[in-house]
Amino acid sequence: MRLKIAPSILSADFSRLGEQVREVESAGADQIHVDVMDGHFVPNLSMGPLVVEALRRSTRLPLDVHLMITDPGRYLDAFVQAGATHISVHWEAEGEPRELATRLRDAGVGAGLVINPDTPVEAILHLLPFFDLVLIMTVHPGFSGQGFLGENLEKVKRLRASESELRAKGELTRDLDIQVDGGIDVSTARLALQAGANVFVAGSAILGRPSPASALREMRQSLKSICTGTQGT
Ligand code: DX5
Ligand code: ZN
Repeated sequence: MRLKIAPSILSADFSRLGEQVREVESAGADQIHVDVMDGHFVPNLSMGPLVVEALRRSTRLPLDVHLMITDPGRYLDAFVQAGATHISVHWEAEGEPRELATRLRDAGVGAGLVINPDTPVEAILHLLPFFDLVLIMTVHPGFSGQGFLGENLEKVKRLRASESELRAKGELTRDLDIQVDGGIDVSTARLALQAGANVFVAGSAILGRPSPASALREMRQSLKSICTGTQGT
């Protein structure tokens, strides 16, 4: 299971977005997380395909697009064309998740499914074979800088266990990335790793910091030390 750190640009200084993305790329970021909000599914507005297109020209890193929008099916093609590497849709949004996943995979884009803190993980277990990643929200979506909701880590554990069961039955053949997003910093990322997550989205704890590069390296070091057992948990 490869550990991946995904800085969210929601906490970036947008007047120098390209520069900030290149900084975290040089510091070893694994992907760039792009939060798309429509002012309807969540009470905030952020960015659209134009920003994804601009990022695609600024970095070689995978672009991980998190759609917090009411009708994701309507905009999938625009984000695919803009250069998204994977696109995640909310289970709570409109549309049939299985159909959206098929459209994404047919377009050569990774398919992600997201659940909010109020949604039980049992709601999506039957959908795992159709998705490449599941994102467990650890805040109510809409804003960066909120407090981590630790009770969601039980869902991460349950998801990893279900993944193993499905794999043993031959019903899952691809790797499943489990992302956490919301309130992730050095210490909550460690808890999420111990629960079974392998992709860590962080906004304020990386691009919201004065030195995003050192914040990212510190997070990576801390997560690595758990894997190698060089530091107490
Ligand atoms: C919240 C977004 C997050 C946000 C995380 O709705 O999905 O990706 O950028 O920000 P932090 O890490 O500050 O909670
Ligand atoms: Zn996000």
